Amino acid sequence: MDLRSLPPEIGKAHSDFAGLLEACTDLDALLRLKGAYLGRDDSFAARMMDTLKASPKEQKKELGIVINALKNQWEEALKSRQSNLEELRRQRAAMSLIWDVTLPPPLPSRGALHPLMRLIDRLADVFRPLGYHVEEGPEAETEAHNFDGLNIPEDHPARGSADTFYFQKHTDLLLRTHTSPVQVRVLKRLAPMIEQKGGIRFLAPGRVYRKDEIDPTHSPMFHQVEGMLVGRGIGMQHLKGTLDYAMKALFGSSADIRFRPSYFPFVEPGCEVDVRCPLCSGTGCRVCKSSGWVEILGAGLVHPNVLKFAGIKSDIWSGFAFGMGVERIAMMVSQTPDLRLFFENDQRFLAAMGGMD
Ligand code: DAH
Repeated sequence: MDLRSLPPEIGKAHSDFAGLLEACTDLDALLRLKGAYLGRDDSFAARMMDTLKASPKEQKKELGIVINALKNQWEEALKSRQSNLEELRRQRAAMSLIWDVTLPPPLPSRGALHPLMRLIDRLADVFRPLGYHVEEGPEAETEAHNFDGLNIPEDHPARGSADTFYFQKHTDLLLRTHTSPVQVRVLKRLAPMIEQKGGIRFLAPGRVYRKDEIDPTHSPMFHQVEGMLVGRGIGMQHLKGTLDYAMKALFGSSADIRFRPSYFPFVEPGCEVDVRCPLCSGTGCRVCKSSGWVEILGAGLVHPNVLKFAGIKSDIWSGFAFGMGVERIAMMVSQTPDLRLFFENDQRFLAAMGGMD
């Protein structure tokens, strides 16, 4: 093709064309190239038409043939590249649906124990070497076990329907408000064997219920772990030694505990136990509210009435008991500010709390 009668820029454009076409790897780039060569305005084709218009009459025919040939050539090449690219795009889309059978399969998610259950298991592991086994009691409990057997007086405010969920049909039944009724059940069951066993010791984890509004630190259902030991000559020193051991096992060897006098009808004396804040080692932080200590459980020496109710001679046997809030400890250890996270079961929270077990 003789391009000499056209401006030199057209000759250059034509020799660049094949390379530029090759460089178009997607349809957008191709459209841009098409615009630059064949577009109505400001394209090489438009400029050729201007040249044609301005050319002397006798050259027009020949020049017109050259221009048409050039445009046709570009057009054909663009069209075929376009269909290539469209085919490529179809193939890519199809490829993305194809399974690569040589890839290792995604592992099925295995599920895991809930962080609260893991903490309960850990507590059981801490107490097992001391001879404690795990007991369970019903969540729908009788007043006799939840209150009477624990020396809780008839007029105690906790018995009121403002604090306790009562069943409407079975008026004697309620949702247990603590795990302490398991004490009553286990003592009654093991009383006939106490001599032969040399005492009783157990842990009783489980759900408890109270009429509390849900907020960052309250829930109408939460978990407690009850602990009890009955033996001969048991005193506060045994309780203190046991809890000291347990808290060191749980929080590390620098853990420290302190006792504050408190009152629970089923123990005498009763106390509340604080642990030196495991997060700041007692120097003061948000979790311990700058006091250096956090309360983790209620405890005391088993009230003689509790032993008597169960048929155990309180002049021979004595013991200690304690009850701790599982969520409270979990929140402290994990620095979780909102109790509700433990019940919402957001997979991201659960994974952050320890993931797969
Ligand atoms: N049952 C008590 C509560 O829910 C906790 C408690 C205090 C348990 C003293 C005990 C104990 O065994 O000795 O608040």
